[in-house]
Parts: sequence; structure tokens; C-alpha cells
Amino acid sequence: MFDPDTQDISFFISSLTSDNSVFCETVGSEARKSGVPVIRRESEGFLKMILELKKPGKILEIGTAVGYSALIMAENTSESCMITTIEIDEEDARIAVENLSKAGYSDRVRVITGDAARILPDLEAGFDLVFLDASKGQYLKFFNEIRKLLSPGGVVVSDNVLQGGNILRSRFIIEQRDRTVHKRMREFLYEITHDEDFVTGIVPVGDGIAVSVLKTNE
Ligand SMILES: C[S@@+](CC[C@H](N)C(=O)[O-])C[C@H]1O[C@@H](n2cnc3c(N)ncnc32)[C@H](O)[C@@H]1O
Repeated sequence: MFDPDTQDISFFISSLTSDNSVFCETVGSEARKSGVPVIRRESEGFLKMILELKKPGKILEIGTAVGYSALIMAENTSESCMITTIEIDEEDARIAVENLSKAGYSDRVRVITGDAARILPDLEAGFDLVFLDASKGQYLKFFNEIRKLLSPGGVVVSDNVLQGGNILRSRFIIEQRDRTVHKRMREFLYEITHDEDFVTGIVPVGDGIAVSVLKTNE
């Protein structure tokens, strides 16, 4: 039986993912070259599909890095869509502001520099889509703040939830230094899939993406 490995599947899906603008591609390839962790190619395609389905008017991103995924979201939403993105690292946030300005998105993408744990409680609610892509050990904490910020039917897209497949393994096989994140990510996945306010699906695209949709009463 044909049994392609995960890398082959990833590579194949990536090859089918549509290109971004030349500027966005440059930002992405420079980030990857200098070791800045940005969204995986195959996850980009999935995110774009969600953007097209949801057509959000307001997006929140947690974990900007140098603004690559924010650029992708800006390029794949309408001109009226406002994006707020939070980055804890001052230098990355500065580069993100520069990149977004060069691309002409300063008027609709706001970069907030600081720790999302401190910033989230002060944000005004009404986000239609949240892209969660920051410190993996804090996902549950972030999610509990995000839920208060969503509009009815709001969607939370959480990246890297399968942690290169490690999430399946027993904690005793996981290196000591990764055990806390492993435990917290398992808790996160359990909580979001058992949360009565949300319907969550987990897809093994890229490093694993969870999509949680806030139920409406209609
Ligand atoms: C995987 S990178 C984000 C990549 C970006 N979304 C992209 O695809 O282009 C994660 C980012 O989250 C930031 N981060 C980590 N913890 C954070 C926190 N508590 N608040 C805000 N940003 C945080 C890191 O500094 C890092 O730049």
C-alpha cells in the first residue's frame, strides 16, 4: 500500500498553495532564512480558505513576529477589514510595523507591542476571527480571554497544536524541557474540544491547526 510520510504530504500541499504578493513572499523568505518562525506554507492555504469563508470585518492576531501572516491576512481580506496584531518582542514588532507600512497596510493593520496576556483584557470586543500563534504554553490562558472578545459566530484559528506530532506521544518520551508545553497543549486541546460554547475541529495540516467556532443561538 502507498504510504506517503507526513513530510511528503506537507510538501505536496505546499506546492498547491497559491502565491502571495512579491513583497509578502520576500518578507516570508527573509524571515525563514533568518530563523523567524512564521506560518508554514501549507497552513497559509488553509488560513486563506478560512478567511474567504468567514469574510471577517475585524481580525485579531496574537504573535505577529515580523508581520508575515498579518500581510497574508491583509492581502486576503477586504479593504474594510481591520487587523490588530500583538507582538511581545520589540524588535520584531518594529520590523512588522515597517513591513506593513511598506506594503501600504498601516491604515488597517495595528501592531500592538507587548505581552498579549496583559493586552487582551483591555481590548474592545467584536473580533470575527482570531489567529492564535504565540507562546504555545499559554494558549488556554489566551483562549479564555479571546472568548470574551469574539463576535457571535467568531472563529479562533490556533496554529501549531500538534507540535510536530509530539502531542501524541507519552509525556515520558518528551524531553524534560518540553514537558510543560506538551501538558498545557494537551489541556488546551481537551478544553476547546469539550467547551460547550464552541465547535472545534483539529486538522493535521502544517503543524496542526485547531479551528474553534463560537456557537450562536440561532
Ligand atoms: C510563531 S511566531 C508568529 C509568526 C507569525 N504569526 C507569522 O506567521 O508570520 C510567534 C510570535 O509570538 C510572539 N509571542 C510569544 N509570546 C507572546 C506573548 N505573550 N504576547 C505577544 N506575543 C508573543 C513571539 O515573540 C513570536 O514572534
